[in-house]
Amino acid sequence: MNTVIMNNVNTSSCVFVIFGGTGDLAHRKLIPALYNLKYQDLLPSGFAIAAVGRKDKTDEEYRNEAYNSVKKYARFEISEDLWNDFCRRIFYKKLDFTRAEGYFGLNEFLSGIDSELQTEGNRVYYLATAPGNFEIIADNLHAANMAGNALKPWQRVVIEKPFGSSLASARQLNRKISDVFGEENVYRIDHYLGKEMVQSIMGLRFFNTLFEPLWSNKYIDNIQISSCETIGIENRGEYYEKTGALGDMVQNHMLQILALLAMEPPTSFNAEAIRDEKVKVLASIKEFTSGSVARNVVLGQYAEGEAGGRKIAGYRQERRVSPDSQTETFAALKIELDNPRWKGVPFYIRTGKRLAAKKTDIVIELKPSGAQVPNLIVIKIQPKEELFIRFNTKKPGIHGKICPVKMTYCQKCEICEAENNSPEAYEKLIIDVINGDQFLFTRWDGVEKSWSFIEKIKALKEEGKCSLSFYRPGTWGPEAAEHLPERDGRHWWNL
Ligand code: BG6
Repeated sequence: MNTVIMNNVNTSSCVFVIFGGTGDLAHRKLIPALYNLKYQDLLPSGFAIAAVGRKDKTDEEYRNEAYNSVKKYARFEISEDLWNDFCRRIFYKKLDFTRAEGYFGLNEFLSGIDSELQTEGNRVYYLATAPGNFEIIADNLHAANMAGNALKPWQRVVIEKPFGSSLASARQLNRKISDVFGEENVYRIDHYLGKEMVQSIMGLRFFNTLFEPLWSNKYIDNIQISSCETIGIENRGEYYEKTGALGDMVQNHMLQILALLAMEPPTSFNAEAIRDEKVKVLASIKEFTSGSVARNVVLGQYAEGEAGGRKIAGYRQERRVSPDSQTETFAALKIELDNPRWKGVPFYIRTGKRLAAKKTDIVIELKPSGAQVPNLIVIKIQPKEELFIRFNTKKPGIHGKICPVKMTYCQKCEICEAENNSPEAYEKLIIDVINGDQFLFTRWDGVEKSWSFIEKIKALKEEGKCSLSFYRPGTWGPEAAEHLPERDGRHWWNL
């Protein structure tokens, strides 16, 4: 029997309503992911997409644009028959979503689709607009009686990152969204949770006698999680100035990976039980204090420089960034968990823009065994998807020396620059929303815990307890980040 870590709760027909239907996210990720699902015959039989946007556009025009997006970004080719059936299910509705009066028309429009395509009144509302519009859209859906109703037909809401830009704003947004929809209908996206190798962490841990017995302070020396990027902030100055690397990557993606690595076995493999365990990990993170923050947190900002033979502007020269900005584009942290399993095991995490390579990986370093080189379990999340174990064995030959060797399971070995993992991540996340499975989505109590951890660091930074250093593009960040593990007699593994 195959064990499955998820429960397909309720696959049912629906209209997938995209607020921000003309935006980048819809065209680069959502429409191509929906086509990929169609290609794999994973969409329900009663299915339609309603793109909602402010621009004037006919269905025909929108369908043509969708065709180009699919051609460019979908991972499956366009087959004519499939496309024809997919395309007739795409509709466009012009709406100023900040104004309540338009929503009655939207409701009628969606009911018309229900009659034409048997979508049974069920709705996924995907909020792919600027985050500033999330609350007003929720309010307007509520006022038009389009959300927060009895379970059948259902209405689910998908919220893109960032979920708030601070603890206070996240709380306010949450109050609104859960009042309108109820937590059981809220799907907070963290696209890292949809990445294949992130999803495989639980399988690796809980379905192998080989690994789980090692998974504690008895055998593990330290765990490193790195998510490094070569790109800069790409015209997102306004957003990035508010969030920085701590809010953009650590609060969500990095802490979610940490929670999956450190959680206790869940009582069962359903969304609630799994999320209960993840939240316990987040609650056990030791908060930094004015005494501990400087030793355990390194914040950096990329300066002007050169990388890959090109001149690179510094962060402060980017558009919509203050010329004396103190925002961090790099963060490295030594995190400790206050629980018996992980007592004494540091989790080193680092993330940054304009670094030496694009890579996300996890290195689990085991305690020394007497051999010079420690055993490692390495999970590469991107661009390669692989898992390898490094262990020591006798070198062939008469000298009998011990040397490290590597055993690899390679899930995606070829690195194709044009392709990144996100579309597949969106496929999985979208189908889970349609199926009503919240396992890969963050729950409010977890979001709240991670925001309060980040806010504390930000407050200490404001008080001058933790400084910002500059780093050259194309490096692994500020020098101080190297010292973080070095002070403990360890080092970052750049494998
Ligand atoms: C997003 C951040 O959530 O993740 C971006 O807002 C970052 O700043 C991106 O570039 C990284 O995602 P990926 O899938 O390319 O690692």
